[in-house]
Amino acid sequence: MASIHSFEELQDYLTGWLAEHGKSADRSRHKAFWDTMTYQEFITKDVPRFPGVKILIKGDGLPSQIVQSLLGVGLFGPDGEYPRMPRGGPYMSYSEIQPIIDWINNGCPEFATRSEEGGESPSS
Ligand code: HEM
Repeated sequence: MASIHSFEELQDYLTGWLAEHGKSADRSRHKAFWDTMTYQEFITKDVPRFPGVKILIKGDGLPSQIVQSLLGVGLFGPDGEYPRMPRGGPYMSYSEIQPIIDWINNGCPEFATRSEEGGESPSS
């Protein structure tokens, strides 16, 4: 499974997944908030138009709302306030959500380290 090393990779991951599944967040109130927000906003603020729904807890992926939304639990569970994301499905599998959990658990790195850039690290 792919891992996510930077904010840009996270943005591409979410947008790419939706596109591959024929979905778009354009008609939602929040739009593609991972693309419209700055890095600092994304890691500290609420989802646009959803006051009180903080996007994530740096260092703690599983209880982060962005993760809960994709898993369909908590606020996004069967008895929750909102539908599982992306609304109407198809939904991400757990193994597709895991890289997002890992990125948050790793402290939401804004940029990849040199050895992570371009995927392969030098062999010597
Ligand atoms: C993290 C908190 C989130 C909240 C509170 C939230 C809330 C909502 C709500 C209430 C809707 C229904 C339409 C509307 O009222 O605007 C919606 C639609 C949608 N959301 Fe989210 N969402 C969240 C995260 C996400 C994420 C991470 C994705 C990316 C996979 C996503 C993708 C979508 C899509 C594709 C739609 C449907 C657009 C359509 O019907 O065409 N949402 N969202």
